[in-house]
Amino acid sequence: MHFDEIFKNNENWIAQKLELNPDYFHDLSKGQSPEFLYIGCSDSRVTAEDLMGLKPGEVFIHRNIANQVIPTDNNVNAVVQYAVEHLKVKHIIICGHYECGGVKAALNPSDMGQLNSWLQTLRDVRRLHKKELEKIQDPQKLFDRLVELNVREQCMNIIKIDHVQKSWYKTGFPQIHGWVFDVRTGKLIDLGLNMEQEFMEVRDIYDLKPLDKK
Ligand code: CO
Repeated sequence: MHFDEIFKNNENWIAQKLELNPDYFHDLSKGQSPEFLYIGCSDSRVTAEDLMGLKPGEVFIHRNIANQVIPTDNNVNAVVQYAVEHLKVKHIIICGHYECGGVKAALNPSDMGQLNSWLQTLRDVRRLHKKELEKIQDPQKLFDRLVELNVREQCMNIIKIDHVQKSWYKTGFPQIHGWVFDVRTGKLIDLGLNMEQEFMEVRDIYDLKPLDKK
């Protein structure tokens, strides 16, 4: 792929859209009301809209290395707040993927400079589930399982956010979903997590509702 081809591609893309609907960009410019917030990995192989078959305007997206939801990350917090309070998304999806480089790095301790702090939360996921993970002999299965456990932990981190809890108690939304994209087959896998139930089990620790009443 040559750099200049991107602009040619863009022109072709515009032409295709306008051929189907001359008002396409006019309509698009009016605003967005996506039902989904997707938080996924920055990995170039995991193309959010494309793999979900969604069109422009249908999904609000945040991507970072290994789809992390870190409480001190101003970026992800702003995205979640905007999606929940203003866009009123019905679903928040955390989508991990097999063969994730970030997860792989967390499985192989080494000094990676700036990446150390970013990977620390992934290493924490490994520590939290040390007992389960130690029983897995097959390195591939261990790698895959840490990808899945990371998705679950990040779903849990979503529920810890005050804006999410407030909306949840008020409207029952957003629903939280944990997915894994299998880059080896192209398949999107719903991990079938019940985050409502998972949250109830640790509610005494993370529920911020009592703070509202003060
Ligand atoms: Co990745």
